[in-house]
Amino acid sequence: MTGPLSTADIREKYLHFFESKGHLRLPSYSTVAPDPTTLFTVAGMQPFKEQFMGAPAVFDGVASKRVTTAQKCLRIGDIENVGRTLRHCSLLEMLGNFSFGDYFKREALTWAWEFLTSPEWMGLDKERLYATIYQDDEEAFTIWTQENGLPPERILRFGADENFWPADAPKEGPNGPCGPCSEIFYDRGPKYGDDTWAEYADTRESARFLEIWNCVFPQFDRQEPLPDGTPVLKDLPFKNIDTGMGLERIATVVQDVYDFYSNDVFAPIVAKVAELSGQPYEGPQSVSHRVVAEHLRSVSMVVADGSQPGNTGRGYVVRKILRRACRHAYLLGLREPSLYKLVPIVVERMGDAYPELKDNRAKIEATVKAEEERFLKTLEGGIQRLGGLLSGLEKGSVLSGNDAFVLYDTYGFPVDLTKEIAEEYGITVDEAGYAESLENAQNVARAGSKYGKSELFGGNLEALDGLSPTEFVGYDHLQADGEVVALVGAGERLSHLPAGSEATVVLSRTPFYAEGGGEVGDTGRLEWDGGSAVVRDTRKTPQGVFLHDVEVESGELRDGTAVRGVVSGERQAIQRHHTATHLLHAALRAVLGSGVAQKGSLVAADRLRFDFSHGAALSADEIAAVETLVSRWVSANFPVSWQEMPIAQAKAAGATALFGEKYGETVRVVSVGGSVDYGGQTVSSMELCGGAHVTRTGDIGAFVLLGDENVAAGVRRVEALAGEAATAWVRERLNAAAKTAALLNTSPDALEARVSGLQAQLRAAEKETAGVRRQLAEAQMGGGGSAAQTRELGGFRVATLKLAGIEGNDLRAAADKLLDQSGADVIVVAGDKGLVVKASKDAVTRGAHAGQLVGKLAAAGGGKGGGRPDMAQAGITDADAALGALDTAF
Ligand code: ALA
Repeated sequence: MTGPLSTADIREKYLHFFESKGHLRLPSYSTVAPDPTTLFTVAGMQPFKEQFMGAPAVFDGVASKRVTTAQKCLRIGDIENVGRTLRHCSLLEMLGNFSFGDYFKREALTWAWEFLTSPEWMGLDKERLYATIYQDDEEAFTIWTQENGLPPERILRFGADENFWPADAPKEGPNGPCGPCSEIFYDRGPKYGDDTWAEYADTRESARFLEIWNCVFPQFDRQEPLPDGTPVLKDLPFKNIDTGMGLERIATVVQDVYDFYSNDVFAPIVAKVAELSGQPYEGPQSVSHRVVAEHLRSVSMVVADGSQPGNTGRGYVVRKILRRACRHAYLLGLREPSLYKLVPIVVERMGDAYPELKDNRAKIEATVKAEEERFLKTLEGGIQRLGGLLSGLEKGSVLSGNDAFVLYDTYGFPVDLTKEIAEEYGITVDEAGYAESLENAQNVARAGSKYGKSELFGGNLEALDGLSPTEFVGYDHLQADGEVVALVGAGERLSHLPAGSEATVVLSRTPFYAEGGGEVGDTGRLEWDGGSAVVRDTRKTPQGVFLHDVEVESGELRDGTAVRGVVSGERQAIQRHHTATHLLHAALRAVLGSGVAQKGSLVAADRLRFDFSHGAALSADEIAAVETLVSRWVSANFPVSWQEMPIAQAKAAGATALFGEKYGETVRVVSVGGSVDYGGQTVSSMELCGGAHVTRTGDIGAFVLLGDENVAAGVRRVEALAGEAATAWVRERLNAAAKTAALLNTSPDALEARVSGLQAQLRAAEKETAGVRRQLAEAQMGGGGSAAQTRELGGFRVATLKLAGIEGNDLRAAADKLLDQSGADVIVVAGDKGLVVKASKDAVTRGAHAGQLVGKLAAAGGGKGGGRPDMAQAGITDADAALGALDTAF
């Protein structure tokens, strides 16, 4: 151990602790939520909902009713508070242990206590721990008081708003697993506040008492309440455990730093923000450093997981977070794209635990930079607009709060900047009005992002009342003429859009496909007499009104204008990926069996993603078989056709429908006009689908199936590429192989042999250095440990030895040998950076304690450490000072 535990150490210790209690360790699942109740994964339990409900607990072929993970979660409900307070973060790593009908409350709470308080693990002071329980949970009360020894006055009882998870689930939902919970708090001491625990019962807010761990006892399946509102909680088939400890919080406590921005992950990112902006991290502007650091961490992670900024759903959230970071960078004086320069440091701090960050570094940087460029451009539009508004006002007057809000919402224009510029004109801003507009908009966003409801639109739908469904002609036409029937910005109907503004446009007739059925919305352009706009995304309301998110490039767009919609060339790539998705689905069912059911999909221009139920990872042979089958369809160049028909007829014809999807009376069926053979099995593809497709399978061109991953228990995710995206990917890999081969002075074909040769050389070299290090240690120890100094201290024979150039395992091996050979009761071996203390069995029975001793020595030697009575270690910076403290340590 070196110094206080790092975030990585804590994560590892947690997972290791629960492994030692029989848990299976699984890697984090994606931040993309595995079920539609939320946009992002918000809790460690989310990938395991099915297991809580009774599904078999088998993970990649390993059966285990106990599982532990460190899950990356994104919580966006309080995004506006991130940076302003020291407690909120949008990305959090949740340490969790789960039991599916195996152990229950007693183990969950006693193990939590052991992990937190045992010197071997977190070693927190028991006197500083507190707990809350659900109002009538006597079982939890008894465990806390009798088994963990927590005095009753340190336990508070709350109702379902605090001590039920999800909070208030019985009344509010979502449906599914839920239960009472017990939360563990840590008292950070009077320097954080002079409030008391008893006061917390009323305030429920404290900088001093920090909630660190939530232990949930999911035993109910929440159902729709009765018509009179009575909650319905059905018993689950068995009782479960779901716990979640925020890694950022426990790291703050263990490292004893003021807030998580000062811990070992965040501090270097914050320092880099200060360096890039030239603004010190202090005073009121420090909010901006925090926002930038925190948001870059979130954005890097979600982009690594495949999310991209956009105007709806997840994309909308990614854009909001990134825009907020951009605004704060601007406030710190950064006028050029700079945030992308923070990505390397985020990757450095977190990439070991989440290798997807390393794999996607270039993509994250490019995404952030492109969004920064757009933001800075939009800001220029805002400056012009604000200039226009201000020059129309008298000196000494007030700019309306709503104008300031529209500038913020439509142009991403920070209100602080609005105030600053307005001041130059001698005009003030109605801040209360601004706050009110912001609050209204936030309420809309929050209602849409609460656990249990999916967020469909970023904006306010009331402005669309009374509009008729749009005529969609985009299956057959990529260009079409229509008329503007509504313009909507910041939730309000507008009469015209000036150049530079961003808003939503509704047309009478459109060729743009609206996001749906996994297929992304179309992009392209609107053109009219005297102007043009870029279409960045297309969505539609449940009533069939198509919404085009546009940015006006030139001219002015007015209500009623005749416009031509031109869908971008990306549509062809999207169609390739969509038809390829159908073929992939059919091929997966042929190769893996009819147990494969579609769980979700994404069809974009650059790739397709497909989630399906299947219990095990795909083997290389299975991947190859699926890919070959799809390629066979592609080369057969069968026609693809679509047709509307009554649902009964579609089902009778054998069309694949998605389980759980709601279909109308008339459905659209997409069929591939020809089947392929797979080991004597005839495989064909016919699916209910509203998406856009190629007209012949040959249009797909090329198809590559990339490896699969686990997104939720029992659900696999594959990504695949079609057309140019596929050939470009293959080219990139071939180039990379050629480069690597050139570095190793060989050809790509001989790469494998060359690498195994080098590995063998490396192993031999490592063995040799290990031998040399051992000799070095032995030479310094002298025969039989004769170089050690031995003396009597506190009734023990204590041998000490200083070794130069020996660390880690070698230091421990030297300590073992010295204890063996010297015949001393206690031995202390110091390297340049580490310290190992061991005590013989007999010495331990006489009261020696290596763990306590190492703590005292390390404190003198500028470090920290601990361990068991017979063996302990520490990291130090000054070996002489550590050894010098020996005389007073007994
Ligand atoms: N699922 C629980 C939470 O997120 C542990 O707080």
